[in-house]
Amino acid sequence: VSLKPYNTFGLDAKARYFAAFDSKEALREILESNEWKNVPRMILGGGSNVLLTKDFDGLVLKNEIKGIHAVREDEDHVYVKAGAGENWHGFVQYCIQHNLSGLENLSLIPGNVGASPMQNIGAYGVEIKDTFYELSALHMNDHSVVNFNNAACDFGYRESVFKRQYKGQFAILSVIYKLNKKHHFNTTYGAIEQELAHMGINHLSLQAISQAVINIRSSKLPNPAEIGNAGSFFKNPEIEASQYESLKATFPELVAYPLANGRYKLAAGWLIEQCGLKGYRKGDAGVHAKQALVLVNYGGATGQEIYDLSTHVLDTVRSKFGVSLEREVNII
Ligand code: FAD
Ligand code: EPU
Repeated sequence: VSLKPYNTFGLDAKARYFAAFDSKEALREILESNEWKNVPRMILGGGSNVLLTKDFDGLVLKNEIKGIHAVREDEDHVYVKAGAGENWHGFVQYCIQHNLSGLENLSLIPGNVGASPMQNIGAYGVEIKDTFYELSALHMNDHSVVNFNNAACDFGYRESVFKRQYKGQFAILSVIYKLNKKHHFNTTYGAIEQELAHMGINHLSLQAISQAVINIRSSKLPNPAEIGNAGSFFKNPEIEASQYESLKATFPELVAYPLANGRYKLAAGWLIEQCGLKGYRKGDAGVHAKQALVLVNYGGATGQEIYDLSTHVLDTVRSKFGVSLEREVNII
């Protein structure tokens, strides 16, 4: 089965077997059948954060569990549960329509609800860990269902236990978010303020913030429907204050953000751009011309070619700045 329609890089890798499931029972049935017992398995959501470097000699399981509904309510919050196979942006819009705040800054992130805790998705000053309440996941081997609360997920910047120690072990079935009835607008990210002003907004609303985010994202991030990509390919690296000071001395324009732990986060896009790689292209693999942190497939690239390009970017940034970037995308 070609996975081309199932990954936003548009890579034509193949899976030996492919199945979709829309309930926990259906997934259990697949996992328990003798046919699939000893076959490697991989859960796929919207395929917007994977790089398929070769064919997958196993079973790809596409999560299509649907449903969104409120499960609990207290004075200040509504707890909303969404099936892992729900489209993320659709879920964000549901919350906005129901006048619940917390996820509006995360508008238009591709992919599904089930993958949102995987890397604690974030954008424009907000991460899901700020509103995540609990998830339910099925263990791929013993088929038990385990609930993880916020602390158990051990969320970090683009990290969780599901990307680290429990990698490949759980299928996330549903996620509950704890949303605010009272609106807490987060416009700390400079570009949002600017865009709101540009839009002529005087009264903040969930819709206005969502639209501002949509406008900013659309202006620089490539639309996977037009050009293959998986968003930021690398993480923004964290460095020690001492390294920051010496880099700043050599590169006064360095884009960096001080962190609470005394370290600094660097804008990897800036580092890549300074290496002259923004818009760089080798064959059909390229560094996006409007956002250097995004690698793109102009059509005919293979996953291996994109991967090789990422290695070239890593090496170039390391030799110019002495900083090691880390890949953010899941390499398969
Ligand atoms: P997939 O790509 O299908 O899967 C990602 C990983 O999670 C894989 O390892 C897969 O095995 C695993 N997985 C998926 N679903 C499940 C499940 N139900 N149970 C267990 N494991 C599962 N990310 C951000 O954080 N912030 C951004 O601003 C952002 N912008 C982006 C912009 C663009 C244009 C694109 C293409 C991507 C962007 N991303 C961003 C990355 C991506 O949207 C997110 O990582 C998203 O959460 C991936 O969801 P998905 O359903 O497509 O996951
Ligand atoms: N920059 C450049 N050149 C570039 C790109 C960026 O100089 O080509 C500099 C700019 O100075 C800019 C700064 O980098 O001020 C930050 O750029 P931007 O606001 O576009 O954000 P980013 O750091 O490149 C991160 C996330 C995105 C998220 C945005 C908005 C990571 C790895 N990426 O990108 O997430 O949408 O912030 O919050 O943290 C993703 O994870 O896939 C993703 C797109």
